[in-house]
Order: sequence, then structure tokens, then C-alpha cells
Amino acid sequence: MVSYKELGLVNSKELFKKAIKGKYAIPAFNFNNMEQLQAIIAACVETKSPVILQVSSGARKYANQTLLRYMAQGAVEYAKELGYAIPIVLHLDHGDSFELCKDCINMGFSSVMIDGSHLPYEENIALTKKVVEYAHKHDVTVEGELGILAGVEDDVMAEHHTYTRPDEVVDFVTRTGVDSLAISIGTSHGANKFTPEQCTRDKNGVLIPPPLRFDILEEIEKRIPGFPIVLHGSSSVPQEYVKTINKYGGNLKDSIGIPEDQLRHAAQSAVCKINIDSDGRLAMTAAVREVFAKNPAEFDPRKYLGPAREELKKLYMHKTKYVLGSAGKA
Ligand code: G3H
Ligand code: 13P
Ligand code: ZN
Repeated sequence: MVSYKELGLVNSKELFKKAIKGKYAIPAFNFNNMEQLQAIIAACVETKSPVILQVSSGARKYANQTLLRYMAQGAVEYAKELGYAIPIVLHLDHGDSFELCKDCINMGFSSVMIDGSHLPYEENIALTKKVVEYAHKHDVTVEGELGILAGVEDDVMAEHHTYTRPDEVVDFVTRTGVDSLAISIGTSHGANKFTPEQCTRDKNGVLIPPPLRFDILEEIEKRIPGFPIVLHGSSSVPQEYVKTINKYGGNLKDSIGIPEDQLRHAAQSAVCKINIDSDGRLAMTAAVREVFAKNPAEFDPRKYLGPAREELKKLYMHKTKYVLGSAGKA
């Protein structure tokens, strides 16, 4: 058993309080390899942003759970070496069982998500409460979820959004004791968040997705004022990456994300954690494809993962400065 405190990590409590007060959101970036982690830390140190490093159960399987934990510990030292010790949270993304959450807490995670959103309401409450009881003994913060995002989540496919019901939030947060609540207001996971049919076109023919349900968010904020809200599925799917990928041999279709102005708007509300994974995948893929297309003889991984890491860093700096508003808040 190792406490995250010994590793130099922090939980999300104070970060969320400051984020709500300061009207910005903390970036929650997923990682499962070294280049992603280097880019996240370098970008957040350079922009002086606090950061949540997210590890999914898929990432634990891919990269090895022990290695990932040591990498996060290394990230704390790396930030210091870069010259500025930003607050770093190590968070389990989409935990699906008490055992997984407990395991992560025991190995140094400072925050966990227990995602019972697919369960019947009372089962979601019971599971979330059990995780909270264990986590709080160790001063670890817990994110719960109400409502279901459309798209693929935890290998479960939901065709339509089940928006969070404002009527349930007071009961859920008081009975479970969670520290933050992920909600469903129209975001979804992956790079295909909307079909072209769901979108309208502006005068230049650019697809405009339907707006997020800010009315539901406002209703939730009225019921639980000042309570930290989390948005999953918040990649913007930058079209320049989609174009580069397709130009250099890729085949991405109907890749549409959440417009940045909507995320900026959300970050100024009680939304204080915004999850971004897919945009990083697109940035890496675009950079790697470009290297291979321009130099098919290249076979040194540093020559394609290096440019991918640079592109990722640019992307993350853009997010903290111009979308989430977390730059300068560390
Ligand atoms: O919400 C899901 C995250 O993007 C993590 O994805 O389970 O493929 O690692 P993953
Ligand atoms: P995106 O797929 O939109 O990046 O969402 C990531 C996420 O919600 C991780 O939990
Ligand atoms: Zn998610």
C-alpha cells in the first residue's frame, strides 16, 4: 500500500474549489505511453496549469498498471526538473468495479472515477457509496456519473444520450458522498460525436453540431450550487488533424467534435474537469502519418514519435490557454 501523498501527487478537492471560483476547468488528459505523458507535463508546466493524468482500465492493460503508476510518480519529478512543480492528480478513468478502484487507491492514485452510470439508479448509488467509503479513508477523491453518453463507453454502445436528470442529482450526491459528478448533456466519447445529418451548415458549408444542453447544466447547478461537475467526451476533433490523417493515407469519416466555444462556456460554469483523449490520438496519428508519408524509409521510432510528441504538446498548450482557461492557475 502506498499513499499518493508519498509520491508527490494531490487529490482533486482544492483544485476543483479554485476552478469553480476562478471560472476555469482542470484538464483531464488520458495517457498510456511515455510520449503522451511527456507532452502533457511539458505543456502544463510551460503554461503553468494544474493537470489530471487519467488512466483507463484499457490503459492499465496496455501499458501495465505498475509501470503507469511509476510513470506518474516520474512525472512529478519531471515537472520539477522542468522548473515548476504543478499540482498533478493521478486519476482512474471509468472505473467499473469496487475492486479496481481499491486497487488503484492502494497503489497511489489520488482520485478515482466509479462509473455506475449504466446500472439501475439504486445500484449505481450502492456501488458509488462503497467506493467513496473506502476512498475517503485514504483522502482520495471520487467522481461518480449520472446519465449515459451516446456512443461507445466501456464497451457498451448507447445509440442515444440519456441526459442527466436534474431531479436525481441532490439525492445522488448526498447519498453517495461523491466529490464530483460526471453528467450527460450531449458530449460523447471518440472522434465521431455527431452524424452530418445531426448538424447544420454555416455559409461556408462547415458542419455545425447541435449545441450542448446548457439548460440541463444550469438546472443541475441550481440544485447543487458550487458542486464540481465533470464533462467527459470533450474532444473538439480538430479538422486539420482529420485532414492530415486522410491526406496521408488515413480513412476517417464524419469525424465531428464539440466546438471549442461550447467548452469555453462550460469551463466558466461549475464544470471544473474536462476530459480529453481523442484529440491527442488524432494529433499523434496525424504527425506519425505525415512522417511516414514524407519519408517512407524512416524506421527510428524517435523520428516519428518525437514529432508526435511535439504536436501533442502544442495541442495541450492550446487547450489550457484557449479552451479550459487553466493556464496560469498552477
Ligand atoms: O473514455 C474513454 C477514454 O477515452 C479512454 O479510452 O478505454 O480506449 O483507453 P480507452
Ligand atoms: P474524448 O473521446 O472526447 O476525448 O473523451 C475522453 C473521455 O471522456 C475520457 O474519459
Ligand atoms: Zn470518459
